[in-house]
Amino acid sequence: MDAPTANRQGDLLRFITCGSVDDGKSTLIGRLLHAAHALPDDQLAALADESRRFGTQGEALDFALLVDGLSAEREQGITIDVAYRFFATARRKFIVADTPGHEQYTRNMVTGASTAQLAVILVDARKGVLTQTRRHSHIVSLLGIRNVVLAINKLDLVDWSRERFEQIERDYREFAQHLALHQITAIPLSALHGDNIATRSAHTPWYTGPSLLQHLEHVEPDMAAGDDPLRLPVQWVCRPGHDFRGYAGRILGGSVRPGDAVRVLPSGRQTTVARIVGFAADAAQAVRGESVMLTLADDVDASRGDVLCAANDPAGVADQFETTLIWMDEAPMLPGRPYLAKLGTTTVGASFSAPKYAIDVNSFDKLAARTLELNGIGVANLALDRAVAFDAYAANRDMGGFIVIDRYTNRTVGAGLIHFALRRSQNIHWQAVDIDKQARARQNGHRPAVLWFTGLSGSGKSTIANLVERELHALGARTYLLDGDNIRHGLSKDLGFTDADRVENIRRVGEVARLMVDAGLIVLTAFISPFRSERALARSMVEDAEFIEIFVDTPLAVVEARDPKGLYRKARRGELKNFTGIDSPYEAPQSPELHLDTTTQSPEQAARAIVAALVARGIVRAHD
Ligand code: ADX
Repeated sequence: MDAPTANRQGDLLRFITCGSVDDGKSTLIGRLLHAAHALPDDQLAALADESRRFGTQGEALDFALLVDGLSAEREQGITIDVAYRFFATARRKFIVADTPGHEQYTRNMVTGASTAQLAVILVDARKGVLTQTRRHSHIVSLLGIRNVVLAINKLDLVDWSRERFEQIERDYREFAQHLALHQITAIPLSALHGDNIATRSAHTPWYTGPSLLQHLEHVEPDMAAGDDPLRLPVQWVCRPGHDFRGYAGRILGGSVRPGDAVRVLPSGRQTTVARIVGFAADAAQAVRGESVMLTLADDVDASRGDVLCAANDPAGVADQFETTLIWMDEAPMLPGRPYLAKLGTTTVGASFSAPKYAIDVNSFDKLAARTLELNGIGVANLALDRAVAFDAYAANRDMGGFIVIDRYTNRTVGAGLIHFALRRSQNIHWQAVDIDKQARARQNGHRPAVLWFTGLSGSGKSTIANLVERELHALGARTYLLDGDNIRHGLSKDLGFTDADRVENIRRVGEVARLMVDAGLIVLTAFISPFRSERALARSMVEDAEFIEIFVDTPLAVVEARDPKGLYRKARRGELKNFTGIDSPYEAPQSPELHLDTTTQSPEQAARAIVAALVARGIVRAHD
């Protein structure tokens, strides 16, 4: 959630604007910039020129053109990215995040809202409070914004109707009762004509409140207190020579002075701040929002991602949390799938539980949900691959907020807020046992391994795996075959064939395979396992040399012609939904350890090739 930041916040107000596509948001921002004299003459001249050529306002200035910075949005008539704009009046400086209103662009709204202190929510006076208005308000509230301006726009189009204005304000206040907003200020506007933007309009004599700009100049945003404890995530460690080690980063909470006691998390080591290094001279103090470089009194070996905290009030350290999750990707959130979570400067492997519930943004109902779809909001547990320093989002937005990244596409697919750490992770410890994997392997006389067969239904996975197991058995190896259809009679009896169920199926099989490898066995798994993410998950559960992915590559046309169980015919007739290869995807492995072409090889030849490969890798020994 990178955004421009000011060093000291006092006289600076950061706000976002949210609204639906046609609510007049760009026009409103253009008006504000104009009213604050933030537009240089040459830009005004260019605007006049563009207004004549592209505008919709005749000879008048079309302020929408001013802030539609991206040409694409001009063509489509929608705003498609977050744009930060700076302006100032005599009283205050402002940074406005212009966030798009189109349904798909929740992502940008979250980005803009995560650093804002106030939200201007636009409503078209003709349309009133829409689902979009509710969704934006919900996200704004979730992200910790407590001050909202309800900008009821286009009042000129409803004859400056006081009744209409008051009705919309009432509707909104009733809805907003359920949100954690502290202050809602409704202002009647015509952004197009400039009414109630900088000064009060003669068209609304019944309105006695401030103009929008006056309100923004005077509002006291209701944010976290200034005396919160120090939080400084280390962004980089500066070591120009042996005698200097500086820790650089941006202060996300509290303040720091030389001599302050600090604790380095997650290690917990304690030391004191030696210097706050400046360009010309050292600083005596640094506060939240400032980027600094510190030196420490002791050699505590802090590295990127560690957090320097006030020693007497440190952040928590945990690897499991309850969170609110806002999903922002076309592909739904799949419980158990390995993602990456970025918390501050730390990126760590992450997965979610099935949602405890999803939230209906209109009614606030808690809905049962197995996944979260695009724009879905829900509560789910987050498990990280390792413990990190954190605060609850309610205490510190920067330390308690995170984004979720897809491991393969690198896209930001979600944003989340930490509620609290789950204690259970602290109360369950790893029990050491005396007989380990190596000891079991020695007794077995071979090394343990997972032979992970993957391929379409009917490709020959089970047949080949069965032949391989027979040969291994004959060589004296201890083996076990986990077969897709068989596992679905027991361990995975409760699962079907949705994406979410397949993810869970493979997660379970991966865990069982891990245990069997620990038991010293050669375990063969024969599952379609259509998703690379979960095959990668299964791979990550054992050591590198122990995982052998075997792609049983049989083209769809061939398996369909074979159709040993008649399932492809059923799927084609529409009697079987989510069938792999027909209406559910198969992501072929890109670099499997073994790639079998079953159109040129018999199952017996394939099995012999696999056993030969295991011998070559030193997993089993061939008979002399
Ligand atoms: S996986 O996707 O979760 O790995 P798995 O290998 O356990 O699938 O189960 C696949 C077997 O279930 C197939 O070989 C087929 O016999 C049967 N099956 C039933 N319905 C489906 C379906 N919709 N898609 C794929 N296989 C199905």
